[in-house]
Amino acid sequence: MCGIVGAVAQRDVAEILVEGLRRLEYRGYDSAGVAVIHNGMLSRTRRLGKVQELSSALDETPLAGGTGIAHTRWATHGEPSERNAHPHVSEGDIAVVHNGIIENHSKLREKLKGLGYVFASDTDTEVICHLVHHQLKTADNLLAAVQATVKQLEGAYGTVVIDRRDSERMVVARSGSPLVIGFGLGENFVASDQLALLPVTRSFAFLEEGDVAEVTRREVNIFDVNGNPVKREVKESEVTHDAGDKGEYRHYMLKEIYEQPTAIAHTLEGRIAGGKVLDSAFGENAAEFLKDIKHVQIIACGTSYHAGMAARYWLEDWAGVSCNVEIASEFRYRKSHLFPNSLLVTISQSGETADTLAALRLAKDMGYKATLTICNSAGSSLVRESDMAYMMKAGAEIGVASTKAFTVQLAGLLMLTTAIGRHNGMSDEMEAAITQSLQSMPAKVEQALGLDDAIAELAEDFADKHHALFLGRGDQYPIAMEGALKLKEISYIHAEAYASGELKHGPLALIDADMPVIVVAPNNELLEKLKSNVEEVRARGGLMYVFADKDAEFESDDTMKVIPIPHCDEFMAPLIYTIPLQLLSYHVALIKGTDVDQPRNLAKSVTVE
Ligand code: M6R
Repeated sequence: MCGIVGAVAQRDVAEILVEGLRRLEYRGYDSAGVAVIHNGMLSRTRRLGKVQELSSALDETPLAGGTGIAHTRWATHGEPSERNAHPHVSEGDIAVVHNGIIENHSKLREKLKGLGYVFASDTDTEVICHLVHHQLKTADNLLAAVQATVKQLEGAYGTVVIDRRDSERMVVARSGSPLVIGFGLGENFVASDQLALLPVTRSFAFLEEGDVAEVTRREVNIFDVNGNPVKREVKESEVTHDAGDKGEYRHYMLKEIYEQPTAIAHTLEGRIAGGKVLDSAFGENAAEFLKDIKHVQIIACGTSYHAGMAARYWLEDWAGVSCNVEIASEFRYRKSHLFPNSLLVTISQSGETADTLAALRLAKDMGYKATLTICNSAGSSLVRESDMAYMMKAGAEIGVASTKAFTVQLAGLLMLTTAIGRHNGMSDEMEAAITQSLQSMPAKVEQALGLDDAIAELAEDFADKHHALFLGRGDQYPIAMEGALKLKEISYIHAEAYASGELKHGPLALIDADMPVIVVAPNNELLEKLKSNVEEVRARGGLMYVFADKDAEFESDDTMKVIPIPHCDEFMAPLIYTIPLQLLSYHVALIKGTDVDQPRNLAKSVTVE
């Protein structure tokens, strides 16, 4: 949450910083600001609202200066407003941007007030800049002042500090919120995500927990949590430069929905051979880790949690191991039982979700046999801290509503099902059938995308709706949950999902003509049961939208609109039925006129608790 960019260069950097913020805006978008040092003076511009507001202000009154920091905010402490926007400044000398939450900010605030500092915002961040300013009264330099400051902070931070009196230096510190250093020619950069810096460099080093670094035009010196100098590997980014562009699409979300065939194909590439999933898909030594697994504990949040929910059906049905799935924020705060030979699997698009990361750390202390992350972000905390990583190759996902990451997660989890299943009685034939299904997924998804126009038309029925119910059974229940999350997230329609067998235990009471009921109905062994549930809704005057296999024998009438879905096998069905639900939420959001890519109150990467 929140986006950070910083630069030390010989040229004016404000434009680079603002372009970086644009590329990070999906992380937070309630206000934005930039501060640069020019001729030994700090200048700052901040605006409430999106980065475009800041950009227009800078077009009117440009800021010159080769050292600067910038921030796009997702409010935690203090309402979205210009006075709470970052960078925060102390005594006109120090400017700070921060991502995370300083938990002991109240205590520090009181102490700093006692020292004569006057606070200009309601944020927790402002304590950092006054603390650095105070430390500089005795510290030798900015680096030492920041090192002394972070020792006093409790909570999470990725922060960048500049001092107008030391105009060619940034000091950055990371604990709990990611930061990456970008290396240029005679200029260096920092950001909370490499995506921000792709227009200016492709060489990156990820800071580790507790690192503090000083960055000048010519040098980057990194110190670990104990203050010892350390080297962090500099890698060339594989992320493409245009990853942050919408291209021909009206929204990132639509672009990402359409990228799914390619994203799945890239993710499968080189990972299946001879009808088998290669263990190396899960990283080095995966074969050794996976062979004795008898229980899988999956941890994730939001959309990633729904992928895990689907995988539970597969792992128990086909891989022959027991499986629990839990929301990370619950798992981390309760005592759970550790089963013998347990694998902990985290699922995360960003690899930085605070609760998922905390759950991983807890699980490692509990003594899980091994940890695996299914993740879309190389170099992220979850990847670095897990024993194994299945790297999704979905490419950057910018739309806040997760789409391609979800289907790629499903593909990865299906591969994991075979990799574990083969040690627990899954036959070669079964594995071959699953891998064949995986390989035909991109083409099937392409076919499902052909429903776009029909779904756009259907979406018009939702223009005046305020509630919706999603139904599914078996591994389609999590798909219904994901459909409901997508709809509520971007169209603000209140949507709930139920396993349809639960209808008569309460939700049937909600059914009336104003409650659209969306049903996912592949042709599987639960179809007849699902049909009975559909009749229960029909009998109570509900209006249904049934996404059904063409052989499932549903027919449109006054009470039901049937949308035929291309026939697909049971392994890929959850993934294929996801596509029309994504399209439905997208088109409903268009009709409702909401901000599709940056829905209100949300941010892409939830790096705070
Ligand atoms: O990066 P992660 O996959 O760990 O993020 C988890 C959730 O915050 C995320 O899936 C969220 O629910 C989506 N934006 C919903 O579309």
